[in-house]
Amino acid sequence: MYWLIKQALFQLNPERSHHLALAAINICYQLGLTSLLKKIPPTPCTVMGLNFPNRVGLAAGMDKNGDYIDALVALGFGFIEIGTVTPRPQTGNPRPRLFRLVNQAAIINRMGFNGKGIDYVLTRLAKMRYRGILGINIGKNRDTPNERAVDDYLAGMRAFWRYASYLTINVSSPNTSGLRDLQHIEQLTALLTALKAEQTRLQQVENKYVPLVVKIAPDLSTTELDDIANVLLTQKIDGVIATNTTIKRDGVMDSPYANEAGGLSGKPLDALNTRVIQQLHAHLQKKIPIIASGGVMDTTSAREKINAGAQLVQLYTGLIYNGPSLISDISSC
Ligand SMILES: Cc1cc2nc3c(=O)[nH]c(=O)nc-3n(C[C@H](O)[C@H](O)[C@H](O)COP(=O)(O)O)c2cc1C
Repeated sequence: MYWLIKQALFQLNPERSHHLALAAINICYQLGLTSLLKKIPPTPCTVMGLNFPNRVGLAAGMDKNGDYIDALVALGFGFIEIGTVTPRPQTGNPRPRLFRLVNQAAIINRMGFNGKGIDYVLTRLAKMRYRGILGINIGKNRDTPNERAVDDYLAGMRAFWRYASYLTINVSSPNTSGLRDLQHIEQLTALLTALKAEQTRLQQVENKYVPLVVKIAPDLSTTELDDIANVLLTQKIDGVIATNTTIKRDGVMDSPYANEAGGLSGKPLDALNTRVIQQLHAHLQKKIPIIASGGVMDTTSAREKINAGAQLVQLYTGLIYNGPSLISDISSC
């Protein structure tokens, strides 16, 4: 069934088919048709003090503004991550900015945090029915200099505290100039020190603890990754998402889109992503849970991430190429 839908969607421009697919899922949900999908038997797990009905989540970027949370949950996800949300609305990069590399089961995107901003997302969250695990991924506006980036993340934390099960600090998108520099040790330490202090303050004021999760790039050197792992441990960060998209082009040079700027996701990211998880796991020694995001395309790749040390996995490109049955396949693997 999904194979047929995919044939039709892949005829269209990728960004258009993205919106069409989400609108179609939403209509199916409104009509009660998603309840006809095969029920996913619960495989509960507790991570970061949160109880997940299964360990398969939706990665950030598909539902940037929280418009489709209830419909996406109905596909069977154990958790949903929305965003990246920036404080103010912004249009992102000029189109085209999304490319399908079909023979490689991959995507290149340079969306550039196109989104409607905090105020809009809050209106969506107020209407949401879902009461399960919701991650909210926060970032900085394109025109906020790195020296003031902390203010944007603080704005996201304060705005979303009451709705978020966990908050993801995105310092790894390749499509916002300079963003990944926030992963440099001095900048990361300064940023996370401020955000942890705010976490403590908000916990007291709101009487609710919200775990902070840092999402990292796959393109770090071994030394950089070890240094980041040390900062995460020192700062007592609650979780780490490994990884965002890669700026490398290994395995896709045959594609006509190989030289498009942006982050590469999907199958070509799989092995690199697993290596990052292995190294992180060796360093963190289970003190900080790892959430895998990158190249989870089937049960084999999901199993490899879990064997490498991940406790949860997230899907994006795998969902596009292989459809929602992937969620139940992986949740029981
Ligand atoms: C079109 C697109 C948009 C994305 N937008 C975001 C985003 O806004 N924030 C973020 O943290 N990651 C974003 N990502 C990265 C995904 O969350 C995920 O980390 C990455 O695609 C690797 O996983 P995959 O190989 O399963 O796709 C985006 C990915 C794609 C393909």
